[in-house]
Parts: sequence; structure tokens; C-alpha cells
Amino acid sequence: MIRFGLIGAGRIGKVHALAVQAVPNALITAVADVVPAAAEALAQQLGAQVVSIEEMFNSSHVDAYIIASSTDTHADYLMRCAEVGKPVFCEKPLDLSYERAQRCSEAVQKAGVPCMLGFNRRFDPQFSTLKQHLQAGTIGKLETLIITSRDPAPPPVTYIKVSGGIFRDMMIHDFDMARWLLDEEPTRVYAVGSALVDPAIGAAGDVDTASVTLSTASGKIAVITNSRRATYGYDQRIEAFGEKGMLQANNQLENTLLFAGTEGVMTAKPQHFFLERYADAYRIELTQFVQALQQDTQMPTTEQDGLQALRLADAAYESWKSGQPVDLT
Ligand SMILES: NC(=O)c1ccc[n+]([C@@H]2O[C@H](COP(=O)([O-])OP(=O)(O)OC[C@H]3O[C@@H](n4cnc5c(N)ncnc54)[C@H](O)[C@@H]3O)[C@@H](O)[C@H]2O)c1
Repeated sequence: MIRFGLIGAGRIGKVHALAVQAVPNALITAVADVVPAAAEALAQQLGAQVVSIEEMFNSSHVDAYIIASSTDTHADYLMRCAEVGKPVFCEKPLDLSYERAQRCSEAVQKAGVPCMLGFNRRFDPQFSTLKQHLQAGTIGKLETLIITSRDPAPPPVTYIKVSGGIFRDMMIHDFDMARWLLDEEPTRVYAVGSALVDPAIGAAGDVDTASVTLSTASGKIAVITNSRRATYGYDQRIEAFGEKGMLQANNQLENTLLFAGTEGVMTAKPQHFFLERYADAYRIELTQFVQALQQDTQMPTTEQDGLQALRLADAAYESWKSGQPVDLT
């Protein structure tokens, strides 16, 4: 039995906790959150204990950690996991500062603790099937990749102000998908961005509409498009194009009903947001984390992936600010 300590009992903490409980020989035994009521409500549901952060890291009843607290806490808590020498699953992003993320990654590596980073989209059945086809050579050599990622509605500006900006907060997932699907590190980054959805986002120094072009040493090109608003729901699509054809992973719809009439053909909207769209991905991700621990195998994603995605996000930010492409060596 692996006993997990969960730090952060918010939206994503709840999702991860329920995923762990569904894996045989895995249990959440301790929950910590700065908001005691949040910890208590979830702990009660799980049959776990509420503990303080200090108790969490000093406990001999916890074998591994799940960090699902706010972004600004990830690096510190990862360092604590490294100090106590216990495995950890940490939500994205690793941190908003590359230097801090690097120090954190070094601590994790030095301690030799297994560490998985929450890039859940790799575990989405649609996207992982697309990846399998790329690996099997279905479209031959990959040439271009188009990643579309649009949220249904922007978050409050109070969130935008502490989010790290669209590239580090939102597009970080797409940078990871691009690295994973290209199977090669991008060497050039060019970004454009505008505040077209909400001027308050622009006033906060961020953009709500952005596109980034990545290219690799071998010449592969990836184009990522983000918007903080899509009137029709959560728009999550990937297209891969290569010498022998094209692969598309399209949106998952709220239902499969199709209406055909004199004015045209209509289907349901895409599933509303990430909790619905990526429900399977979150479950598979945590299952694979627990299985990697149980079977002592490599983590499917690591803090190194978090670091590389952050490097691309920083380059995109620099490119957006300067209006010039940024070369990565
Ligand atoms: N991979 C994904 O698709 C995905 C989706 C949502 C959120 N996230 C990430 O997960 C993290 C949490 O996001 P959320 O949407 O669940 O937020 P949330 O606000 O719903 O939950 C965060 C929880 O952390 C707690 N918390 C804050 N500071 C803490 C501290 N110092 N120690 C312990 N607990 C603390 C809060 O009280 C809250 O209960 C963020 O880093 C976010 O980027 C990832």
C-alpha cells in the first residue's frame, strides 16, 4: 500500500485525490491546505487525516506526495519532498521563474526522488493515440504541427495578475505538447500577442490572444494558437501533417447528437472546460504515477519537462515583448 499526502485541496487537488483512491493499493491518508475548511471537507470525503504542512513533511505515515496547491508554492514544496527523500507528483507549472525552477530541479535530481510533473494532456486518450500514430510512422516524417487551445472564458483579472501571463500559465501545456509530439527540442521561438478579449488583461500587462511559431534544428514547425475566450466552449485540437498524410485530434463534444435540417447540420458544443475535457487524462495520469511507483519504473513526465516548457514560455514572452524571434541554443 502506498500512502499519499495531498497538499492543496482545491479544484485539481480533489480530482487527483479521487483518481488515487481508485487505484488498487493506493490511498490518500493525509490532506493539508492553508484553508482548513477545504482540507477538512476533502479529508472527510476520503477518510483521510487533516495535517499541517509541517506534520505532512515529518510524517512517517506518508510515502509520497501530491502537490496541487497554488503555483507559487510548487517549488518550495518540491524542495521539501527532495529534503525528506520521498516521491512526488507536482502540478504544472514547476514555477514561474526559470532560475528557481532550475534550482528546484537540481534539488530533486540530487536527492534522486521520483518526480512527475502534471502535464495531463499527454495522457488524454485522443492525443496519446495521435502520438502512437506518429511513432508508428502513419504519416511518415512529421513536418508541421498545429495546436489550438482556447478557453471558454477569461479568468478574473486578479488571477491574470498572479498567473505569470498567458505563455507561462496557459500555453505552458501547449509547449509541452509541442516538445512531446515534435520529439525534438525547438530551437527558435517567435510570438505575437494582443489583448482583444478584455482590455483589462492588456492593462495588467498580459495578452489574451497569442500565437507562437516554434521550429527545430531539423526544420519541423509547430504553430500554437491560444485565446482566453471561445464562445463555443473549450477548443482543444491538434493537427499533425507529414510526408504521408495528416492526423487530426478533434474536440470532444458534450454529446454525440447531430441535427441535420434545411439550414445545415449542427452538433453539440465541445465539452465546456478542462475538468470535463480532460477527466480521463487526469485519471490516467495519476494512475500512471502510482503504477510507476509501485513497479519502480521511470516517471512518464518529469520536472525536466517542466523546466523545458518554461524555457519555451520565457522565450515566447521575450519574443512577444521584442517583436523578434528568439534562438535557443
Ligand atoms: N494540469 C491542469 O490541467 C491544471 C488544471 C488546474 C489547475 N492546475 C494547477 O494546479 C494548481 C492548483 O490549481 P487549482 O485550480 O486547483 O486552484 P485552487 O485555488 O482551486 O486550489 C488551490 C488550493 O491550494 C491551497 N493553497 C494555497 N496556498 C497553499 C499553501 N501555501 N499550502 C497549502 N495549500 C495551499 C488553496 O487554499 C486551495 O485550496 C495550480 O498550480 C494550477 O496551475 C493544473
